[in-house]
Amino acid sequence: MITMLVVLSIGGSILAKNLDPAHFAAYGKALRELSEEHRLVIITGGGVAARKYINAARSIGANEVVCDFIGIDVTRLNAQLLIAALGNDAYPEPPQTYKEAELAMASGKIVVMGGVIPGQTTDAVSAILAEYLNADLMIIATSVDGVYTADPMTDPNARKFDVMTPKELLDVVISTEMKAGSRSPVDPIAAKIIERCNIETIVMDGKDPASVTDVVQQESIKTEPVAGVRLGTRIIR
Ligand code: UTP
Repeated sequence: MITMLVVLSIGGSILAKNLDPAHFAAYGKALRELSEEHRLVIITGGGVAARKYINAARSIGANEVVCDFIGIDVTRLNAQLLIAALGNDAYPEPPQTYKEAELAMASGKIVVMGGVIPGQTTDAVSAILAEYLNADLMIIATSVDGVYTADPMTDPNARKFDVMTPKELLDVVISTEMKAGSRSPVDPIAAKIIERCNIETIVMDGKDPASVTDVVQQESIKTEPVAGVRLGTRIIR
């Protein structure tokens, strides 16, 4: 029985790190199992490859919109690799728009896509899709284990939130982004969408696909935290 519609953003830095095929295969296997119980829409990030292409484009004079289009193409390449790992359980092409994603959902298959338009990241794509499709849960699987009060790489006093409101998320994201060189685990557009649509969101370490599936299962049965499941940060009003 299908229980939840889950939008899952998988950061390119974890999915496509070193383009390790074993990692795509492991995510594919975990997502196939999860799709037996939940409807899944997966958004893949660009990772190191996107950054390299964007840096190369920027250094030969491309403007930021051109760089964004190049980044979007790389996120779609990662989506195609994950589709290959999912085989027949996946919709065969990454949708290029939110409406195409909605139509692809009608196939009943796992929908995998990358970026959509310049000026944002795949976190924003995930948040907009979660709102558009009335998802039950959004997961941002990334290389850090949650949202901190400040950038934990530069501030030794940074403290992780276990639970926070969308408004608190927005405040943290904006104050982190204002500091040169700092990057928050959620993009500001995504934080704004999460605030307005009020979809339950979890930001978590996504290096191990099994922990992502554990968290989805735990959220669907709404039990007390299961021992060993690392939830990250839950954003809820
Ligand atoms: P990512 O979503 O991977 O960006 O998109 P990121 O947050 O920088 O990367 P991670 O999470 O660390 O892996 C890669 C790039 O693609 C463009 C942007 O330039 C972004 O930096 N992009 C992506 C868009 O312009 N629009 C989109 O909808 C998605």
